[in-house]
Amino acid sequence: MRISIFGMGYVGAVSAACLARDGHHVVGVDIDPVKLELLRSGRSPIIEEGIQELTREVVAAGRITVTDDVAAAVRDTDLSFVCVGTPSSPNGRQDLGAILRLAEQLGDALAHKSAFHAVVVRSTVEPGTVAGEITPRVEARSGKRAGTHFAMCFQPEFLREGTSIKDYDNPPFTVIGSEDERATKLLRDVFAHLPCEFIVTSLRTAEMMKYACNAFHALKVGFANEIGRLSQSLAVDPHAVMGLVCKDTRLNISPAYLKPGFAFGGSCLPKDLKALLYLGKQRDVVTPTLASLLPSNRVHIDHAADTVLADGRRNVGMLGLSFKTGTDDLRESPLVTLAERFIGKGLSLRIYDPEVSLARLMGANKRFIEHSIPHISSLMCADIDSMIEPSDILIVGLQRRDLLERIVRLARPGQLVLDLVNMPDRQDLRAKYKGVCW
Ligand SMILES: NC(=O)c1ccc[n+]([C@@H]2O[C@H](COP(=O)([O-])OP(=O)(O)OC[C@H]3O[C@@H](n4cnc5c(N)ncnc54)[C@H](O)[C@@H]3O)[C@@H](O)[C@H]2O)c1
Repeated sequence: MRISIFGMGYVGAVSAACLARDGHHVVGVDIDPVKLELLRSGRSPIIEEGIQELTREVVAAGRITVTDDVAAAVRDTDLSFVCVGTPSSPNGRQDLGAILRLAEQLGDALAHKSAFHAVVVRSTVEPGTVAGEITPRVEARSGKRAGTHFAMCFQPEFLREGTSIKDYDNPPFTVIGSEDERATKLLRDVFAHLPCEFIVTSLRTAEMMKYACNAFHALKVGFANEIGRLSQSLAVDPHAVMGLVCKDTRLNISPAYLKPGFAFGGSCLPKDLKALLYLGKQRDVVTPTLASLLPSNRVHIDHAADTVLADGRRNVGMLGLSFKTGTDDLRESPLVTLAERFIGKGLSLRIYDPEVSLARLMGANKRFIEHSIPHISSLMCADIDSMIEPSDILIVGLQRRDLLERIVRLARPGQLVLDLVNMPDRQDLRAKYKGVCW
């Protein structure tokens, strides 16, 4: 395939060399004449394992040429990858200067091209940037429509500097944000040989997931280092600790706890986090990542409460009270915190939780709920129907399939369902629907 690449930095230079190695004809474009000159003479503008040899080979074979002429690069290729930088502005916002200037140049170039052309953004950009910022500029300058004359896609890049050729050849997956079949097919032709899944999703999802990946990596580093400093202060070997933590692929290194939903609670997570933070305080070990977790959890509960309070209606029904489905443990349950907030605001509350039978509660669990919600017995419903019927707002905090089906069947138009558990079958609801963070 004939491919143009805009931006010969880390991403562009590695992509150019690997695509040329894979047999494609690549046109490299940059505004920096030094980088173009280096490439012209067979040298890569970046330092990476194996990149100099590979660049020398593919330039000598005539499969990479370079230019600063955007119009020629677009005219002579079928597919363009945009790999220009999107650095931080002083306030943290992405600086789109380079990519938007390029969008206008691409638009000018497309104005003179009649054949279909696909533009694939590989620079990391905020969700909505391709459709909201880049595409309109290309359309305005070309006088053509995305989806008709040309396509705009987003494909996050997962390579890491230092191991970029290896990462290019072994990505975790290929993710394509595309709403254009023709562009998707071109990208499939270029990347389908890679030993990973090829996933097509929406532009916004592809844009957001790249940020989510990098934030997750940063979170992991911060977490591991804070456990390291705490371990150091406690004369524990952090490598042994984290080695064991990582061996658990059921709960730790797994999708567990990584689904957007409601806040955490229960008798262990908040208690043990508090104990760990106290240990750090005693030893002057500062752990901002760990310290942020309880406040983050509170913000999430506040967000759910505010969604209900903003509705203005006062009859609220809650499905679920214990800290998770399948238990009657009410200690530190975020649903109890929610219930307390509603009672404090004078709302009329009805609760149904099939696991919570007040007569059977014992010990610390019983003391906790009697202290938190003294007149809890007057709020509990005997069945789900008597919770649904008089309520204006239904909060779904429990995942039992038969009960969710009952909500879907009985919730009326005019009622609001606030979903904390990612309800299946919600498309069949007649009530208005809101997800807690979706
Ligand atoms: N570096 C990485 O490991 C990595 C990994 C994944 C994603 N990304 C993302 O990819 C993008 C590029 O990153 P990078 O590290 O390769 O950047 P970089 O700064 O190394 O390279 C960007 C290149 O774009 C060129 N450029 C600027 N304006 C141009 C224009 N109008 N036309 C042509 N070229 C132009 C610059 O001269 C420079 O050579 C960023 O959005 C980054 O966040 C980077």
